Amino acid sequence: MPIKSRVRTIEHYPRPGIMFRDITTLLKDPVGFQLLIREFVGRYRYMQIDKVVGIESRGFILGAPVAYEIGAGFVPIRKPGKLPAQTVGQDYELEYGTDRVEIHTDAILPGDRVLLIDDLVATGGTALASVALLQTLQAQVVECAFAIDLPDLGGMARLQALGLETFTITA
Ligand code: PRP
Ligand code: ADE
Repeated sequence: MPIKSRVRTIEHYPRPGIMFRDITTLLKDPVGFQLLIREFVGRYRYMQIDKVVGIESRGFILGAPVAYEIGAGFVPIRKPGKLPAQTVGQDYELEYGTDRVEIHTDAILPGDRVLLIDDLVATGGTALASVALLQTLQAQVVECAFAIDLPDLGGMARLQALGLETFTITA
């Protein structure tokens, strides 16, 4: 069974009309979790990534094992007020609300080759705000990678329109 068929869809969560893609069913399956992480590791192992940046919270679950396996550092992008040292932040709109992301200013060195990773791209608001933070810190964003793309919501296209490389799981 491929990776994406292990993702469960919950209708009308967290709000009416939202088709929520629930990756917990993929993650709890040892084979599914391995297939997913190996897909990313196979792609990025030889791309000389310095830092894997994972977006809170589901991006942490994918980003940390990928960073470990490819020999990169792991950097969290977090929701507001969670990081203890000096941060830069960016507000953004979500499919179901507004939010803000922050990163430690010393988490990235100018020129660091960065892989941005999250479980899902919908409108792209979260990823675009995260890219803006990384660009403020003068990272080289090598690629933005997601387990799931919701193409009808246009996020991936918005990233590509900015000239960013993107990747999503097709299996
Ligand atoms: C979800 C998902 C992405 C974002 C995608 O996170 O994990 O980060 O939404 O939506 P977008 O492309 O429209 O910005 P959420 O904000 O629900 O936080 P969570 O991972 O902590 O549940
Ligand atoms: N984040 C934004 N939209 C989402 C969706 N439809 N399912 C899961 N996470 C999301």
